[in-house]
Amino acid sequence: MDETYSLLCALLFCSVTVCAQNCAPTFQNNEVEIELNNQKRTITVTGCLTGYHLPTVNIDSVNIKGQVIPSLNSGAISNIQHELQLNIIHNEIDIIREHAFRNLPRVQNLYLDHNHITSVESFAFENLPSLKGIYLRNNNIDLIQKDTFVNLPRLGVIYINNNKLKKFDQNWFVSTPTLDWIVLEGNQITSLKRDAFQYLISLKAIDFTNNKLRYIHPRAFYRLNELEELSLGENELTSFEEVNLSYSSALYRLSIDHNKFTHLSPRFFNAVRKTMKEIYMQGNPLQCACVDELVLWASNNDIKLHWKCEDKEVYCVFPLSSENDCEKRPISHFNSSLIESFRSDCTIE
Ligand SMILES: *[C@@H]1O[C@H](CO)[C@@H](O)[C@H](O)[C@H]1NC(C)=O
Ligand SMILES: *[C@@H]1O[C@H](CO)[C@@H](O)[C@H](O)[C@H]1NC(C)=O
Repeated sequence: MDETYSLLCALLFCSVTVCAQNCAPTFQNNEVEIELNNQKRTITVTGCLTGYHLPTVNIDSVNIKGQVIPSLNSGAISNIQHELQLNIIHNEIDIIREHAFRNLPRVQNLYLDHNHITSVESFAFENLPSLKGIYLRNNNIDLIQKDTFVNLPRLGVIYINNNKLKKFDQNWFVSTPTLDWIVLEGNQITSLKRDAFQYLISLKAIDFTNNKLRYIHPRAFYRLNELEELSLGENELTSFEEVNLSYSSALYRLSIDHNKFTHLSPRFFNAVRKTMKEIYMQGNPLQCACVDELVLWASNNDIKLHWKCEDKEVYCVFPLSSENDCEKRPISHFNSSLIESFRSDCTIE
């Protein structure tokens, strides 16, 4: 009994000290909802949210929603031993500071969607051994520092879609050996550099749909031997054939729809012909001669090719001369108003 008591005291003392050291106050009488077995209870928190605020039983999630919290400061959520999800959404958060999430050994998923986050400091997400997913959707993030997602051994997915990022940098990540999905849809990224993912070789899916990609280095996808799905639709690519797909020999789904290229030949897909199952390329002003070749090639190789918009009258374009050849040609060899008509949305079969 005595021993237990002194152990408890020691534990309490340590934790309080740790907390005091690491807590830069974040909350000001904020409501925190605790969910367990479909029941909810609400507590009020000032300072930092720690294990002391939570019941000792198992809980499902901690929800902080619809409040005004300008920043998540160092230690904002800390010293919680429970296994749980953290939903911190719709709170007008502008900034996530370094070590905002500290000593949370069993946190599984971290939802930070629909805030006003513009920046995320280095080491904002560090040493979270059970964390599987980080969700930063629908914020205003325009810059992520190097070393932001650090030492996350179980991290599988990260969603940063619908933000304002202008570039992608693999150095955002350090020691994330199981990261297999990156979703960056709906940002403003303009290019992908040489070896852009070479330290993220566990990636299985990359989504850059609806960005402003104009240039992709031929070696951008170097070392991505496990990559299965690559989504590059709704960008501004005028050419795609420079990209070397040999580095992604497991690729089975490729989306390059709604870009601006006029030429693509089946030869380009040789590197991934054996694994490929489905290609989306509708909404590109492709030469009709190229489309003919591609459709034939796809059917011979049992690949589902989405090449036409069902609700458009024009499926492909004829160049102004020698229209029967699928060739690389300057844009001046095409009717420009016809090319523009390919930009809008469309339905596919
Ligand atoms: C593409 O990459 C492979 C290595 O995986 C290389 O052998 C090949 O020469 C490259 N192709 C081009 C056109 O550079
Ligand atoms: C270009 O395409 C538009 C729209 O399809 C058409 O009305 C126009 O006649 C074409 N111009 C030429 C030079 O073929």
